Amino acid sequence: MAETGVNIEKAKATLETGGLVAIPTETVYGLAANGFNATAVSNIFKAKNRPSFDPLILHSNSIEKIKSFTKDIPEAALALAEAFWPGSLTLVLPKQDMVPPIVTSGLDTVGVRIPKHPLTLQLLESIPFPLAAPSANPFGYVSPTTAVHVNNNLGTKVDYILDGGACEVGVESTIVGFPNGVPTIFRKGGLAIEEIEKIIGKVEVQATSSSKPSAPGMLEKHYSPGIKLEIGNIPELMKAHQGKNFAVLSFKDIYDEVPAPFMKVLSKSGDLTEAARNLFAFLRYFSEVKPEIIFTELLPENGLGTAINDRLKRAAAQ
Ligand code: TXA
Ligand code: MG
Repeated sequence: MAETGVNIEKAKATLETGGLVAIPTETVYGLAANGFNATAVSNIFKAKNRPSFDPLILHSNSIEKIKSFTKDIPEAALALAEAFWPGSLTLVLPKQDMVPPIVTSGLDTVGVRIPKHPLTLQLLESIPFPLAAPSANPFGYVSPTTAVHVNNNLGTKVDYILDGGACEVGVESTIVGFPNGVPTIFRKGGLAIEEIEKIIGKVEVQATSSSKPSAPGMLEKHYSPGIKLEIGNIPELMKAHQGKNFAVLSFKDIYDEVPAPFMKVLSKSGDLTEAARNLFAFLRYFSEVKPEIIFTELLPENGLGTAINDRLKRAAAQ
């Protein structure tokens, strides 16, 4: 178990000496190191068992600081930064030389974000370097939304966990890049595409790919709870699999025939924001309850429903 608390000084000192600190953000917890220290960053990859072709996001507390290590920022990116930072948006921008290649997996662009969590913003204000931080989970597993999740997964590998409570948004940031100048969604996430389009107009959405190294977070299989997940019409799935030891993860309906420990409802009122906040914790819960299979369903494909459906489909991918 790693030491857990709200000691910003301790977090700062750990990062300054090349250590790893888990940080709360509004999306999910991050596993952070000094983003300008290549050795410290390499320890992130080791702790997560993450392949080196999957680039990291640099977190900072101000656009000024971000401008000091990126360049040629498109107008549309500045408009999005103005509108949504601090918040659940990552921008992929051309990088300057001081960003070590290990952070970007050798790409000449870097993902950057100002997260919206008071503890982490306070920490970022107190240090001159950005924090490289992927989600604080073993590669391919479900992202953590509490300090306990981080401790359960990486407790022996992280030097300190800054405990900021449960994450408010619950799914990772929306990633926007500008290949050939065209605003493009690289990953659906906690900022709805509709909100982005209100600011910069229609955007492209990059398709999922398991082979494209330029967008590794788009790997088809990801967010795996270690239990088979089947997406469909829940009553039909239950009928077809009578007698099986299944669990149900529904959007808003309770199925009384399912024993309570095997039944989770993402949002009884059908609220997509609440559903996103619950999603990863419920997948983790089922990974402990260990049903044979989880039956689930797609949510309305708007707002945060788009990101939730994306995570469900990847969790279900074989
Ligand atoms: O909400 C989040 O974004 C969380 C919190 C901790 O900020 N972080 C997170 O990091 O989800 P991670 O490492 O799990 O996902 C980062 C993804 C990579 O998998 C990759 O797809 C994309 O960001 N990415 C980073 N840099 C990129 C680049 N230069 N070009 C394309 N994609 C990039
Ligand atoms: Mg991740």
